[in-house]
Amino acid sequence: MAQVTYIDSDDKSYVVDVDNGTNLMQGALDNMVPGILGDCGGFCACATCHVFVEPEWAEKAGAVSETEEDLLDGVEELKPTSRLCCQIIASDELDGIVVRLPESQL
Ligand code: FES
Repeated sequence: MAQVTYIDSDDKSYVVDVDNGTNLMQGALDNMVPGILGDCGGFCACATCHVFVEPEWAEKAGAVSETEEDLLDGVEELKPTSRLCCQIIASDELDGIVVRLPESQL
């Protein structure tokens, strides 16, 4: 299990437990975290699950696929640690991960 902290653009934190194997988009939806829509159901096709991974967690969050990279090219507020959180899978290694939500998604 990974404890995940989602921080919105107003600095409000949502700390939730996400089961191993569940992606962070689903973890947000299951716990009513606002600002993550997940319109495509986690198939890396909509970019409504954009987050900024805190830099110290960026490497552990895993590699960015070509498809994810293409979608990220179209998001507002693109940053070096931008990710689509449906592509980040919870695991014990990610216990404590912190992601921030872009203002444009609120
Ligand atoms: Fe659609 Fe992540 S939920 S790209």
